[in-house]
Amino acid sequence: MRDPLPQNGRIRKLWVGETELYHAHLLRLDPQSRRSRFGASVSDAFIANYVQVANSLDSVIHGFFVDDILRGTAELRPLGATFTHEAEAAFSIETPWQSHGVGTALLDRTLLAARNRGFKLLHMACLADNRRMQQLALKFDAELSFDFGTVVGEVEAAHPTPMSVLREFVVDSTGFATALLDAHSRLIKPA
Ligand SMILES: CC(C)(COP(=O)(O)OP(=O)(O)OC[C@H]1O[C@@H](n2cnc3c(N)ncnc32)[C@H](O)[C@@H]1OP(=O)(O)O)[C@@H](O)C(=O)NCCC(=O)NCCS
Repeated sequence: MRDPLPQNGRIRKLWVGETELYHAHLLRLDPQSRRSRFGASVSDAFIANYVQVANSLDSVIHGFFVDDILRGTAELRPLGATFTHEAEAAFSIETPWQSHGVGTALLDRTLLAARNRGFKLLHMACLADNRRMQQLALKFDAELSFDFGTVVGEVEAAHPTPMSVLREFVVDSTGFATALLDAHSRLIKPA
């Protein structure tokens, strides 16, 4: 059992129709976190374009919600050809929720999803000065190699088993139920 999430926090997958939540979350990142997330100081227009592309790719995005607001994400996307065994993962957590175990919980979910999709290798690209991301990757036995100021962490994902597929299904069922509650509460909340 991993660390508990911060109070009122929960994790579920994002739906296709929730691109705007992802967009707003990425815009809320402070400049340093934005740079760490994208490897450079990117503009708002870049982010707007990025979320559209991310939405059209075969990505699995887990979201960390606090009081129905998306405060963190982990994006998993296949790399290259259709039947690739490699994927890339990228993380973003808004500053007040950093260093509270959210990245750990999101990586745990992401590894489960990667395993169940048959990805053998998960690339995590981050800047060389991003100690926290490196520490986080190391917690999951990442092997790190250095390349032109960028650290690439590669995590071997274990094979899927009936239990791992069931585990993903169970956490998704909970996520689906709470997502419906979110949608419902948005409808009944006064503007
Ligand atoms: C990098 C990031 C995803 C890490 O998530 P997080 O929720 O802050 O990390 P966690 O609290 O789960 O901590 C993971 C590990 O990092 C280390 N860590 C935590 N806070 C740290 C700090 N301030 N300095 C150095 N290491 C730290 C610890 O080893 C910790 O594990 P432990 O608590 O078991 O000791 C998050 O901080 C973030 O989104 N940063 C901005 C964007 C970014 O850098 N994205 C990564 C590029 S893809």
